[in-house]
Amino acid sequence: MKIAIVAGSHRREAESARVARYLAQELQKLQISETYLLSLSGNPLPLWDEEVWSGGEKWKSSWEPISKELSGSDALVVVAPEWSGMVPAGLKNFFLLCSADVLAHKPGLIVTVSAGVGGSYPVAELRISSYKNTRLCYIPDHVIVRNVGQMLHGDEPADEHDEALRRRIDYSLRVLVEYAGALRRVRESGVIDLKAFPYGM
Ligand SMILES: Cc1cc2nc3c(=O)[nH]c(=O)nc-3n(C[C@H](O)[C@H](O)[C@H](O)COP(=O)(O)O)c2cc1C
Repeated sequence: MKIAIVAGSHRREAESARVARYLAQELQKLQISETYLLSLSGNPLPLWDEEVWSGGEKWKSSWEPISKELSGSDALVVVAPEWSGMVPAGLKNFFLLCSADVLAHKPGLIVTVSAGVGGSYPVAELRISSYKNTRLCYIPDHVIVRNVGQMLHGDEPADEHDEALRRRIDYSLRVLVEYAGALRRVRESGVIDLKAFPYGM
């Protein structure tokens, strides 16, 4: 099983990217055979334009390798910082680039990140707006990493809050892995028809 993680902050020294690396380590502890981590730090992806449909050179080099990794994955963890009560624009751009066959009917785990006590708005935004055409299936559990500066440093929890967060992450990843196995059956069922129904309503 392969699980992809996207770290959605554009900042070069992003806390979201650090959280994403922690999640990748935890997935390895769960014996997941492969993880793929895409960080949007430093804006590696151009902004969407129509050339993506005709397979322009810019997109061949920047997006195709990523698209292949995602297509070969069984689940996606979306790590999103809260920026002005939203997910960063680069993360929305990422979802625009994901054509239907990349994420469709794969489970997604939302992990949001805040330097303070935010983190709820990006959960709501992702659940409302990023699944329609991607057909990514967000699982009911999600994780909010509040006060991220004090969380997930080193191997041992710093305090009871850090410990509770680590337990929730472990639990949520285990749930995601079970969904990943279960939804594979849905994708292989023969019912999914993305040619006739390429876009959600
Ligand atoms: C442009 C910008 C806007 C932000 N707005 C919010 C916000 O609305 N709520 C919040 O809790 N934190 C906000 N933050 C702080 C982030 O929570 C903080 O940067 C945290 O480390 C997660 O973002 P990162 O992954 O980019 O580091 C903002 C940060 C930036 C750079």
